Amino acid sequence: MADILGDMRKTHHCNQLGAEDAGSEVVLMGWVQRRRDHGGVIFVDLRDREGLTQVVFNPDNDAQVHAKAHALRSEYVIGVRGRVTPRPEGMVNPNLATGAIEVMVSDLRIFNPAETPPFMIEETVEVNESLRLKHRHLDLRRPRLQKNIILRHKAGAAVREYLNGNGFLDIETPFLTRSTPEGARDYLVPSRVNPGQFYALPQSPQLFKQLLMVSGFERYYQIVRCFRDEDLRADRQPEFTQIDMEMSFIGEEDIMSLSEGLIAYVFQEVLGQAIPLPLPRLTYTEAMDRYGLDKPDTRFGMELKEVSDIVKDSGFKVFADVVKKGGIVKALNAKGCIDFSRKEIDDLTQYVAVYKAKGLAWIKVREDGWQSPIAKFFTDDEKARLAERIDMAPGDLIFFMADQPKIANEALGQLRNHLGEKLKLIAPGTFSFTWVTHFPMFEWDDTEKRHEALHHPFTAPLEADYDLLETQPTAVRSRAYDLVLNGFEIGGGSIRIHDMALQSRVFKILGMNKETYEGKFGFLLDALQSGAPPHGGLAFGFDRLVMLMCGESSIRDVIAFPKTQKAACLLTGAPSEAATVQLDELSLRIKATAKV
Ligand code: AMO
Ligand code: AMP
Repeated sequence: MADILGDMRKTHHCNQLGAEDAGSEVVLMGWVQRRRDHGGVIFVDLRDREGLTQVVFNPDNDAQVHAKAHALRSEYVIGVRGRVTPRPEGMVNPNLATGAIEVMVSDLRIFNPAETPPFMIEETVEVNESLRLKHRHLDLRRPRLQKNIILRHKAGAAVREYLNGNGFLDIETPFLTRSTPEGARDYLVPSRVNPGQFYALPQSPQLFKQLLMVSGFERYYQIVRCFRDEDLRADRQPEFTQIDMEMSFIGEEDIMSLSEGLIAYVFQEVLGQAIPLPLPRLTYTEAMDRYGLDKPDTRFGMELKEVSDIVKDSGFKVFADVVKKGGIVKALNAKGCIDFSRKEIDDLTQYVAVYKAKGLAWIKVREDGWQSPIAKFFTDDEKARLAERIDMAPGDLIFFMADQPKIANEALGQLRNHLGEKLKLIAPGTFSFTWVTHFPMFEWDDTEKRHEALHHPFTAPLEADYDLLETQPTAVRSRAYDLVLNGFEIGGGSIRIHDMALQSRVFKILGMNKETYEGKFGFLLDALQSGAPPHGGLAFGFDRLVMLMCGESSIRDVIAFPKTQKAACLLTGAPSEAATVQLDELSLRIKATAKV
């Protein structure tokens, strides 16, 4: 087949030409965005990944080329040669980068026709996401997604520049490996040559990066895929990408300032946005007290206030009983929201019920007193103290939550985020970072009846709390830190245990006996005894970071080929059944199960 391009080669992209190019002959290539036939003259908006240029087919210039242009339809792939011409007076389009000019076409090549796409390739399309994901190659032609994917590339490039410049080595780690300890379910891969045995895809390169420190590489990074079989959400994919880092001979401050430097560099390079450093910090306890969540959205105020001490002996049994049982009562002041209707308050009550809240008490603060189903239960003194603590003023609507700390904080914290959006308290385009430090080392898992590591089992406890390890594990603070941006956890890490004896103590608290932990992580314990430097690290969720930089609300919009809520790829049809021969080779048999 003849080379359809012939001697035609692109001279410019479709977002490049301006008035200063008038008169030059150019070649553009791309897709037909739109074709308009204006009484003989045909206008085509030609699109490539950079933008749009209007190209013109005029019968007075070249009748043959003009005739050929009649065939053009949306998404045809074409090349045009022509002369750049200033648009006539009144036809200049100030909303288009190339809006000052058009290209008068003298040669047209149609490289390929295209079937009518199932949806318009436009900035915003009102079609359901399944259809978009099924035809992802078309969806990805949309300018918004092209912009996101290009921004993602630039962010990745900036990350590499910064880390390369700071002495980090990019080292690859295996995908076919053993279970790693990030607490999610593993994706398993059967081994053909070892029948009945499985690899686990890494939930993160955690153990390998620690081994690299033991090997003396000192500073490691990798932009790396991680795999976790967990319940999916807008900010969670089964495979996602981390900017994974580890350093030796450092403490928290070193890692945190290096990470801040990285973030500031990336925002400056990619968005031209200055991020003032150092970034603010909150301890875990402060974050929970003030925001109810360990990933607080600090773009707005409306902080929570604990009132347990004031209501503990009050006549409102619900509150008093909760406090007696070790729970807490917290309040949130929705300033100026006195006009919320009954229905709005009921909706909010349902909203918090999702987070297991048992109710949502409220007070409307009027000039002449409180309007509230619970006002009658409080003495004048209690009322005065509540008013002061919660900073009540006429016009305010106060919400209360009484429950065990975990539920009260989570539910009221989520309500705060919800109201922040509903009341438009968040200025668009704001980036608000905060570190959260001093996380608890362990969490009691009531179903498993044992302690769980809040970060992962290799995180070092705070030295000041060593004495509490065996006696009061849940009071032990760890040397872990998270970076939070606009209410999303965009990164997390810790200083690691580099000492075998301490590591064994921690495993024991996690309910692992010697046999179990040596079986699972023996290679790490060996490494710790072979000359392990003090070390620590952090991993950023690259997809989440890029999502926020793009102003998107789902990481699916910054991943070229994402999966659905059910972990399926609608484009390729993965996952799919395996052929019997493949299963035989792997020594596997599928149990008959009901199809879902
Ligand atoms: P962690 O489990 O906190 O730490 O993960 C680091 C960051 O990865 C992002 N992330 C995800 N993004 C999208 N989809 C997911 N399913 C998903 N899960 C996590 C988050 C998170 O902050 N090895 C440790 C890091 C360390 O200690 O150095 C780790 O993986 O933004
Ligand atoms: P009740 O006495 O059950 O009618 O509740 C009175 C008010 O208190 C209602 O507005 C309930 O939503 C609210 N309420 C009930 N339980 C709780 C709770 N645990 N925390 C906060 N408010 C509650």
